[in-house]
Amino acid sequence: MADEATINALREATMAKLVAFREALKAYKRAAKQPPMFLHEKKPVKMRDDALENCRVFSDRFQMMRAMATGDVGAEVGVQRGDFSRFLLDEFSLKTLHLLDMSIPQIRPDVRSDPRVSLHGGDSSTNLKKIAPGSLDWAYIDGDHSYIGAMKDSRAAKVAVKPGGVLFFNDYTMWSPGEAIPYGVVAVVNEMVNEGHDMIAIALSPTGYFDVALRR
Ligand SMILES: C[S@@+](CC[C@H](N)C(=O)[O-])C[C@H]1O[C@@H](n2cnc3c(N)ncnc32)[C@H](O)[C@@H]1O
Repeated sequence: MADEATINALREATMAKLVAFREALKAYKRAAKQPPMFLHEKKPVKMRDDALENCRVFSDRFQMMRAMATGDVGAEVGVQRGDFSRFLLDEFSLKTLHLLDMSIPQIRPDVRSDPRVSLHGGDSSTNLKKIAPGSLDWAYIDGDHSYIGAMKDSRAAKVAVKPGGVLFFNDYTMWSPGEAIPYGVVAVVNEMVNEGHDMIAIALSPTGYFDVALRR
């Protein structure tokens, strides 16, 4: 970690740019007389009205997984350090947990070496297609959050998950405040719902990055 003075200077520089960003947005809205939709990757997609008839709401993603991730073969798409994988390995009776990420070395050693873990390094949608169709009870999608990336993962995960299995999506949000970039996850999920999936769970989160679950 850098020294305190450097960190403070970077925080102040970020806040100054945020003030300039807000001013630019105000000027755009005054001139264009419309919201800044160009900040989003995709036009908002409304989901069908009856999609949430059997939807449960949880206080966080851990509670959601405890209630909804049944079966003994799962996949986490996008692993990073592997802290969520550690939770899955510790709390679920898993026979196999497929872990898919561009970078395998970043995953913590205790997760990488767990005998139940099957590692897939490289592009996740490409690797999901190598998993036997219908062999997963569930998949937790948290890799590339762009519309194209999340869509490719969803399409591939849909094939890998068995009928009646569950597709979980992390970061069901249009905009990531922590990175100041748009996410395509809401559009991907809502399109899948409109193609016939039911939304069976929503998990809130103190940071506003919600999770959802769709029944395949
Ligand atoms: C938000 S992190 C995952 C966090 C983790 N699921 C958790 O809850 O702790 C996203 C991860 O996705 C990976 N990733 C992004 N795009 C990818 C792609 N196309 N293929 C494979 N991994 C990807 C990144 O390397 C990163 O580790």
